[in-house]
Amino acid sequence: MQLSERVKSLLPSPTLAIDSKAKKMKSEGVDIIGFGAGEPDFDTPDYIKEAAINAIREGYTKYTPASGSQELKEAICEKLKRDNGLEYDVSEVIVSCGAKHVLYNVFQAICNDGDEVILPAPYWVSYTEQIKLAGGVPVIVETTRENGFKVMVSHIEAALTKRTKAIVLNNPCNPTGAVYDKDTLQALAELAVSKGLFVISDEIYEKLVYDGEKHFSIASFGPEIRDLTVTINGVSKSNSMTGWRIGYAAGHRSLIKAMSNLQSHSTSNPNSIAQKATIAALRGPEEAVEEMREKFSQRRDRLAELINTLDGVSCDKPMGAFYVFADISGLYGREIAGRKIRSSDDICDVLLETAKVAVVPGSGFGAPNYIRFSYSTSMESIEEGMKRIAQVIGVRK
Ligand SMILES: Cc1ncc(COP(=O)(O)O)c(C=O)c1O
Repeated sequence: MQLSERVKSLLPSPTLAIDSKAKKMKSEGVDIIGFGAGEPDFDTPDYIKEAAINAIREGYTKYTPASGSQELKEAICEKLKRDNGLEYDVSEVIVSCGAKHVLYNVFQAICNDGDEVILPAPYWVSYTEQIKLAGGVPVIVETTRENGFKVMVSHIEAALTKRTKAIVLNNPCNPTGAVYDKDTLQALAELAVSKGLFVISDEIYEKLVYDGEKHFSIASFGPEIRDLTVTINGVSKSNSMTGWRIGYAAGHRSLIKAMSNLQSHSTSNPNSIAQKATIAALRGPEEAVEEMREKFSQRRDRLAELINTLDGVSCDKPMGAFYVFADISGLYGREIAGRKIRSSDDICDVLLETAKVAVVPGSGFGAPNYIRFSYSTSMESIEEGMKRIAQVIGVRK
């Protein structure tokens, strides 16, 4: 079958292989402990569900404007002002089917064939494929554990060419949990302004920061960087609404208009009922979010503590999101459960087959020496899962 070159070059999600294997084992009755989840394990709060039920009862079941309803855009503008110190007009906001869809629209709207997009590694798996789908070229810039996985301005400068169009910033970061400090953001903003680069700031994990860490939006660092930045957010992670598929972006009016035109020919508006629910989420009480954040924080502490007891594995406590990114290079060359460990894929396979624990290899995130643990699972599962891993890998003497 003659499929397009565009889709033929797409890599399947690297997290999927382990995931489908884990699901198959589960369906066969194997008791698997999962550290793979990319979504909060908490239920969507009741007041949000009520808003959706009311929307259905009131007949709010028709098309809305393709880029989202006026009322939701107003609620987004209020949120951006309240939480991020950002002033936007509704004409500078678009609502899409999840942050993933917003990002897809952004890359389609800014990339010409061959345009380069700077992507700090480790990175979330969809950025590379979305950039490529838009004809762009992902230019990977490594970060280091020593620098808290935050990209250094000098490293970006070294990667700049005449074709550089944009920088992707994922703050807080999936998979590392890195949260950018004010000084680094200021320096990144100055660089972007001096070179006229777009900044694609994915802030989907904004609400999940720990130990008193503060999240800053790079667009708030002055009018020039505001014009170059598209700030992306949504309710999937902050309000446990992954299935509702609502994400949004705020940015320069011309970019938002281009994205809206594109969306009007692809999906039209995101689900009208989910839009109503999102208004309730954005205007509702913060307690539910805070409760979830507090639970995540306790799990993070315990999980990081247990990971650091493993022989040949180490991690730092991440400051945001709900993942711990652990260095497993200390296992290389060892034989574990009859298998020589040479990569993160090898150890993830062994852990699934022998310990019956699902963990995601770092290879898909551009970090082959790491594995990602999600702590979006109960404390009991964390204890049990880590006990099983310790039995297979062994603990430090
Ligand atoms: C960094 C990052 N950006 C965006 C998304 C997509 O979120 P949404 O569910 O709103 O599409 C995810 C989801 O895993 C993510 O980890």
